[in-house]
Amino acid sequence: MAATPLTTPHTPLLQETHQSHSFLKPNTAFHYRTSCKPFSVSCSSTIQDRPSLQSRSQDRVFNFAAGPATLPENVLLKAQTELYNWRGSGMSVMEMSHRGKDFRSIIEKAEADLRALLNISEDYAVLFLQGGATTQFASVPLNLCEPDDTVDYLVTGSWGDKAFKEAKKYCKPKVAWNGKSENYVRVPSFDGLELSPDAKYLHICANETIYGVEFKNYPVPGNPNGVLVADLSSNFCSKPVDVTKFGLIYAGAQKNVGPSGVCIVIVRKDLIGNAQEITPVMLDYKIHADNNSLYNTPPCFGIYMCGLVFEDLLEQGGLKEVEKKNEKKAGILYNAIDESKGFYRCPVEKSVRSLMNVPFTLEKSELEAEFLKQAEKEKMVQLKGHRSVGGMRASIYNAMPLAGVEKLVSFMKVFQAKHA
Ligand SMILES: Cc1ncc(COP(=O)(O)O)c(C=O)c1O
Repeated sequence: MAATPLTTPHTPLLQETHQSHSFLKPNTAFHYRTSCKPFSVSCSSTIQDRPSLQSRSQDRVFNFAAGPATLPENVLLKAQTELYNWRGSGMSVMEMSHRGKDFRSIIEKAEADLRALLNISEDYAVLFLQGGATTQFASVPLNLCEPDDTVDYLVTGSWGDKAFKEAKKYCKPKVAWNGKSENYVRVPSFDGLELSPDAKYLHICANETIYGVEFKNYPVPGNPNGVLVADLSSNFCSKPVDVTKFGLIYAGAQKNVGPSGVCIVIVRKDLIGNAQEITPVMLDYKIHADNNSLYNTPPCFGIYMCGLVFEDLLEQGGLKEVEKKNEKKAGILYNAIDESKGFYRCPVEKSVRSLMNVPFTLEKSELEAEFLKQAEKEKMVQLKGHRSVGGMRASIYNAMPLAGVEKLVSFMKVFQAKHA
C-alpha cells in the first residue's frame, strides 16, 4: 500500500535531509543525514495505520450484539479526540485522579444529565457502581430487607430468575409469577397476580434481554408500603420512565449508555441506610451515596463514556425523541418478521415485544448458520441468539442507526427469496 506523505510538525526537517532509504516502511529503522550529525528514527507504524479522527463509518460493522453493544459513533469519535489529552488537562481520563476537580466535573455532569433525561428528583440518589447488574441481584435484598423479610419476584426471563435465586441467600423471596413453562413469551396480567401483602419489594426485570420481553407498564407491589424494584439494564434510557413509580432502578451500562464496568443505581433516599450487617462495604448504598460514588476508585473512564452518551441523548431531544426512533426501528423489524409468512418467527406476545432485543427463529432452522454467515459478509454481526435459546436476536439499542435495521430487513427479504 502506498505510504501517505508525512504531515507532522517534523515534516520540514525530514524533507530537508538526504534520506538514506525509503521511509515509512513499518517496523524498520531509517536514517537521515543532516549537515550536522546523522540520526536515526525508528518507525513502528506508518501514518496510514493510524485511525483517522474523522468518521470512518465504512470501516464499522452494524453490531447487533446484546451487550457490550454498539455505541453512538459521534460519542466514540468525541472520546477519540479527547483520549490523549482531555480538554487541555494534559492527560487522558484514564490517568486522572478520581478525586481531582476534572474527574469530579465529569461525574457531576454525568449525574446531572442523567437526572435531566429521566427527570430524577432529589428524593433519589444516583450511584455509579461496579460489579455489573449481577451484583445488584445481591445488593438489592441486602440493602432493602432483613433476612426474614418476604419479597416478591415476577420472573419473565432468565435475568429475573437469576435475581430471584441470588435473593434467596439474603431474604425470603417468593416467585409471584413465572413464565418459564411457556418459554418466557409474555408478561402476566397484573389483575390476577397473587402478591404478598407484606413484601418489602416487588422485583421485575423490565426488559428480558434474552427472550425479548418488555414490560410496557408496571405492576404495583402487593404491600402498600412496599416498593417496586426494576432491573432496567437492557432498556435503560431507551424511553421515558416515571422514576417515581420505583423505589429502586438498576442498570448495567453496556447496552444503551456506555461500556461495561459501570452499573447505575437510582434509589429513593429514604430506602438507604438499613443494610444488613453482613453487607460488604462495596454493596452498601449508604457508603456510595454518602461519598457521591467516590468511596473507592470508580470506573472512571466508563463513567466518562456514560456522560458522553447522556449528553448525546439530551442533544437528540431527550428520551421522548429517542423512544420515537426506537419504535420506528423495532416496528420495521417486527413487521418484516410478521410479514414473512412464517419464514421468520418471533415467539413473543405482540403487546410486550421488546423495542431493544428482537429474537426470531427461521422456519427452516437448518438455514440459521447460513443466515449468520451471509449477514456477517454484509457487515452485520452478532445476530446469533443467546446460547440458551438459539435462533437469532437483533439487539437494536439506541445507538443502532435506522440504516442498520433497514439493511438487516432488506437482507432478510433477499435471504427469504433465495431460500423460501
Ligand atoms: C437484563 C439484564 N440484567 C442483568 C444482566 C447482567 O449484567 P452484568 O453482566 O452487567 O452483571 C444482564 C446482562 O446481559 C441483563 O441483560
